[in-house]
Amino acid sequence: MAKTRLALLSGGISSEREVSLNSGKQVFDALDKGKYEITRYDPKTDLTKLVNEAGNIDAALIILHGPFGEDGTVQGLLDLLDIPYQGAGVLGSSVAMNKLTSKRLYQGADIPTPAFLSFSKNQTIDLNQCIDLLFLPIVVKPACAGSSVGMTIVKEKQDLNAAIDTAFEHDDTLIMEQYIKGIELTCGVLGNEDLEAMPVIEIIPGKNHEFFDYKAKYVAGETEEICPARIDDKITQRVQQLAVKAHETLFLKGYSRTDMILRDDELFVLETNTIPGMTATSLYPQSAQVAGYSFSALLDKLILLSIEEHENTRLRRSK
Ligand SMILES: Nc1ncnc2c1ncn2[C@@H]1O[C@H](COP(=O)(O)OP(=O)(O)O)[C@@H](O)[C@H]1O
Ligand SMILES: [Mg+2]
Repeated sequence: MAKTRLALLSGGISSEREVSLNSGKQVFDALDKGKYEITRYDPKTDLTKLVNEAGNIDAALIILHGPFGEDGTVQGLLDLLDIPYQGAGVLGSSVAMNKLTSKRLYQGADIPTPAFLSFSKNQTIDLNQCIDLLFLPIVVKPACAGSSVGMTIVKEKQDLNAAIDTAFEHDDTLIMEQYIKGIELTCGVLGNEDLEAMPVIEIIPGKNHEFFDYKAKYVAGETEEICPARIDDKITQRVQQLAVKAHETLFLKGYSRTDMILRDDELFVLETNTIPGMTATSLYPQSAQVAGYSFSALLDKLILLSIEEHENTRLRRSK
């Protein structure tokens, strides 16, 4: 059988470039070279090359995080080039990249999410009013970012302005969220029409981390991850149902991973990742492993789903 000609995209220009390059390398190493003929592209430098070589590409794996990778822009380019790619399309990618649009859609679908306010750069922010509505601590985060970049948990009023400035360094819109103290959980889903929820992961950032911050996410050993999470069956089911519902509500495809916090018996959805971290030890691959997919089997499955979805879309359009 002829090998699938695969474009592996990693790098890019977002603040998560280094994470993406690292994942890209691990994905390259894990891909079965007997099945795939792989060409690597870094969108920072290789977009023209990608366009020129589009006719010789059967599928793409987008291992990019953040703006200009996870937000629908690269997805739109690949649509124009008629190249299948894993995961969400233009709509789902752009909606999910933005925590404000995501939260509005969650609310519309009765998906519980922490109370919040949103502000754009030119607005005056009444700090007292924010505190009256959300209570301290308040989590300040840019609407579009990832890996906890630009995010601060503010405990005292005097620190709010600095947190606001930090968030605005990353995006023109920020959200302030009620701080939820509880157990952090994350749950992946996989599939096109039939969605399979992955086992739930419990995340315990190490003692040096106030929350699941950048270092806790990427420095080995800083965070304990337990899969399946130590929660009862009923909550596990509810987490999995919410992950599937969030995936559907944000118009996602193929796979996604939804972050949540469990406070007593109450679940709060924080966000849904359309291109979850993809090193062999990242959260999604870890839970997929527990579900029986090795890292390379997971990559095979994602590529298969992308080609299947691309074909189905083509058939739907030609009807
Ligand atoms: N409302 C909140 N309450 C408590 N912790 C939060 C809240 N929002 C974010 N966090 C912490 O910050 C981390 C990153 O937040 P998240 O919304 O998932 O954004 P991203 O992962 O895209 O940076 C979470 O995993 C959690 O540790
Ligand atoms: Mg997150």
